[in-house]
Amino acid sequence: MNVVVKETSAYSEEAHAAFEKLDARVKSVFAQVTAWRGWQFIHAPGASRDQIIALVREVFHSVVMYQADTTEAGFHMFGRLPKREVRLIQALCSHKAEEAEHGIWAAEDHQKLGGAHPSKVKPSPATFAVAAVWWRVAEIEDPLGYLGAEYLFEELTALVTAALIPLIEARDLPRDGFRFIIEHATEDAKHAAFLKHLILDVATRYPASIESMFRCFDYFNQVYPIPVWDEAFKRAGLEVVSPSYPGGIIER
Ligand SMILES: [Fe+2]
Repeated sequence: MNVVVKETSAYSEEAHAAFEKLDARVKSVFAQVTAWRGWQFIHAPGASRDQIIALVREVFHSVVMYQADTTEAGFHMFGRLPKREVRLIQALCSHKAEEAEHGIWAAEDHQKLGGAHPSKVKPSPATFAVAAVWWRVAEIEDPLGYLGAEYLFEELTALVTAALIPLIEARDLPRDGFRFIIEHATEDAKHAAFLKHLILDVATRYPASIESMFRCFDYFNQVYPIPVWDEAFKRAGLEVVSPSYPGGIIER
């Protein structure tokens, strides 16, 4: 990708502090994911391979339902950047272009795992909300705030997919239908490192953008990932709520 990586000392202390805080927020979202009932379910010894596959298949379906919108909204958002920011716009376009076909990977994996062709399906409420937040943010927010929302997307995907590799191996899950996870485990670690440098650079040159990044992060996190993945959990037919635990504890 066309981006100039500077020595980290080239960035301001304020920028480093902002990045650390943003990164800590993603780690905290990842902790919420590992405590989420779907994560707990697929890691429990009682979960069958078919149940694990059903959840992953439905998460892929979710990706198909929002991904074209988040991609197009992303292009719209950084299309609004100051026009002198040629290198930044080039770097963001190049990265987003690499992301563009990931909805197709998700659709292919979804079908390989037994799902119907998902392209004609209307979005579910949670995936509609993701698309709605991305488009609203893209239209009215400070376009530099894009980096905060995108860092949640990329770094969280890197953490979650890497954490799923041991499960794929331990349960001998079908590699052919898990391309989206296996490739993202390495690709999104690189993308997150790339975004880190952009965040440090932008936060150094535009300190006021730090607040925008956090705001966009929070808007996106309000609808992603738990509402989307919990909806996938229900679609996968894994929600069996015990009447004695109205809070939603799973019976196994
Ligand atoms: Fe990525």
